[in-house]
Amino acid sequence: MRGETKSAILKSVPFLQSQGEKLTARMYEILFEENPELKGMFESDNSKKLAGALLAYAQNLERLEILEPALNNMALAHVKAGVKPEHYQKVWKALYEAMREMNIPEDIIKGWEEAYWFLAQVLVNKEKRLYECLTVKI
Ligand code: HEM
Repeated sequence: MRGETKSAILKSVPFLQSQGEKLTARMYEILFEENPELKGMFESDNSKKLAGALLAYAQNLERLEILEPALNNMALAHVKAGVKPEHYQKVWKALYEAMREMNIPEDIIKGWEEAYWFLAQVLVNKEKRLYECLTVKI
C-alpha cells in the first residue's frame, strides 16, 4: 500500500471512531436498496461488526498480521453466507456512496478505495481456499 494511502486512512481514524457505525449502517441501506437480493444473506445487522473491522484495519495498517484471526473469521462467515468475489464491487460502491454522502474528503475516500481492494483481495483469497476445501472429495 502506498504511503499516501496509509496517511489518508490514518486521518480517517477519528471519524471511524465517532461515526463508523453510522457510515456502515448507511452503507448497508444503500447496498440493500441497490441489491435487494443480497439482504437474505445476512442473519442480523452487521453494521457494528463491519465498522469495528474497518477501524481495526485502519489502526493496524503497519501490522496486518494482528488481524489474521479476525480476517479468518470474516472469511469463514462469508463462505457460510455464500459471499462471492463479484459481491465486493457492490459493497465498495455502497461504501463509496455512503462516504460521499457523509462528506468525507476526496483524498480519504481515494485512500479507502485502495485499502478496501487490498483487504478485499486478502479475503477473496482466503474464501477461495475455503470454498476449495468444501469441494474436496475424500
Ligand atoms: C473488505 C470487505 C469486507 C469486510 C471488511 C467485511 C467484514 C465482515 C465482518 C467483520 C463480518 C462479521 C464476521 C463475524 O461475525 O465473525 C462479516 C460478515 C458478513 N459479511 Fe462481510 N465484509 C466485507 C465484504 C463483504 C461482502 C462483499 C459481502 C457480500 C455481500 C459481505 C457479506 C457478509 C455476510 C453475509 C456476513 C454474515 C452476516 C450474518 O451472518 O448476519 N461482506 N463481514
